[in-house]
Amino acid sequence: MGKPLDPPPGSNTLTVRDNRTGKSYQIPIVDNSISATDFKAIKASRVAGEREENETEKGLRLADRGFLNTAVLRSEITYIDGDAGVLRYRGYPIEQLAQHSNHLETAYLLIYGSLPTPSQYQTWRDEIMHHSVIHADAEQFFRSFRYDAHPMAILTSALAYLGSYYSEANPSLQGQNLFTKGDKPSLATMDKQIYRLIGKATTLAAMAYRVRQGREFVTPPTGLSYTGSFLYQMDHLGQENYVPNPVLEKALDVLFLLHADHEMNASSTSVLQVGSSLVDPFSAVAAGCASLYGPLHGGANEAVIRMLISIGKPENVPAFLEAVKKREKVLSGFGHRVYKTSDPRSFIVRKTADEVFKITGKDELLETAMALHDAAMKDDYFISRKLAPNVDFWSGLIYRAMGFPNDYFPVLFAVPRVVGWLAHWRQMMLQAGGVKIWRPRQIYVGAAKRDYVGLEDRIAVEGLKKTPSAIEHSGISKRTRLASFKGQTKAKL
Ligand code: ACO
Repeated sequence: MGKPLDPPPGSNTLTVRDNRTGKSYQIPIVDNSISATDFKAIKASRVAGEREENETEKGLRLADRGFLNTAVLRSEITYIDGDAGVLRYRGYPIEQLAQHSNHLETAYLLIYGSLPTPSQYQTWRDEIMHHSVIHADAEQFFRSFRYDAHPMAILTSALAYLGSYYSEANPSLQGQNLFTKGDKPSLATMDKQIYRLIGKATTLAAMAYRVRQGREFVTPPTGLSYTGSFLYQMDHLGQENYVPNPVLEKALDVLFLLHADHEMNASSTSVLQVGSSLVDPFSAVAAGCASLYGPLHGGANEAVIRMLISIGKPENVPAFLEAVKKREKVLSGFGHRVYKTSDPRSFIVRKTADEVFKITGKDELLETAMALHDAAMKDDYFISRKLAPNVDFWSGLIYRAMGFPNDYFPVLFAVPRVVGWLAHWRQMMLQAGGVKIWRPRQIYVGAAKRDYVGLEDRIAVEGLKKTPSAIEHSGISKRTRLASFKGQTKAKL
């Protein structure tokens, strides 16, 4: 760094010239990437009038709002080529896995890096299914939610709550290097938490489902598949020899496999960000669940159905698309940060939808969805922006046909994504060199240094007069509210 020279062609470096100082720097290129910290060496002196808050002397910062072109780690888990519509788990094309594998086998692949041998698979499957039971006193926790609580609020809380049972998995209690001990990480402890989180995810999700219906909870059955057990726990109402419909069980398994991982999306990034403080894996996974809930991410499947209901009929599609183009409405289920052609998962989901509709009948919204899809795919606005359907465009229609309530759809995304979150968490814990806390930088654009003004003098300060507090906005003073509260208490007494 810092040497002005003309490197020979073919050298794996980037020459950067800072025109403020006239200095040139050579920055190494490794794996087609440059290290952001190399830019810290590019410093200049502050010029007259420049804010000290720009920190010019502390080195150049890289600005990347929304992580559009920032690689936060090296990963061996999932590969996406967004221009070619390619998705591979540990090198295996998603299409092959969807056709030949199942969710639990793929989960093993994602977490441990290779497909399991028959005995590895049996042990893995048995461990996951064996760890699906929840302590009986967790029932009280679920019963504390209101009947209309969003199931993602319940699931997110339940995942964090689950961690409170396992003090042996808590680095705050066992030592901060519990999962990162150089050449001696606690692999057995780590594996146990992985079994627990994957095994209990379906149980927590089923409890979140049943508590809202005022139904008793169902103990996870034995002898069923992962999705079979999940459906059983949601739907069993005491019938003798009840088994879930095998076509729906298989369809859900394919959907689970497709949703298991998607490299550095918002929720896996949240898991790693939170996990980087070395918190327990239950808290980190709960953070991922919260992140997934939003309508720009895993909440999009729910948003698609609300959008289709609001459109109503195919003949209303053109008016809706015009509103989208004017930015008055959002076309949920279209667009992706990485895919600039169709999301490869959406083709498999579309095929799975046909299998499900043979059992459940077609969803009344399907025609509107098809009309919307076909019109958008022919429209220049969407073509020029490379907007195509993502996995959420079709998945909601399947969930709806299967009878799940709209607000439950993100849960059906979060449960399988626990696998991807854990694969990333495990990879980070075991990476050479240990874990670095994820602590980004900012570009400060706030006020320059100023002196404190006493309360009595503050009214005269320009600006503060214009920003009344929330209490002034509401028209109720705190004193009035307290007085009326006191009055109520008195009346009751
Ligand atoms: N409808 C209409 N226009 C869109 C849409 C959409 N769904 N998505 C993107 N655009 C437009 C943007 O307005 C922008 O246009 P402009 O260049 O004229 O300003 C352009 O396409 C580029 O889009 P960005 O917002 O920059 O794309 P970004 O990568 O930041 O966002 C996202 C990706 C959040 C997925 C976005 O496409 C979106 O909001 N889609 C709808 C929500 C959705 O389906 N989310 C699920 C994603 S998949 C998943 O998480 C499993």
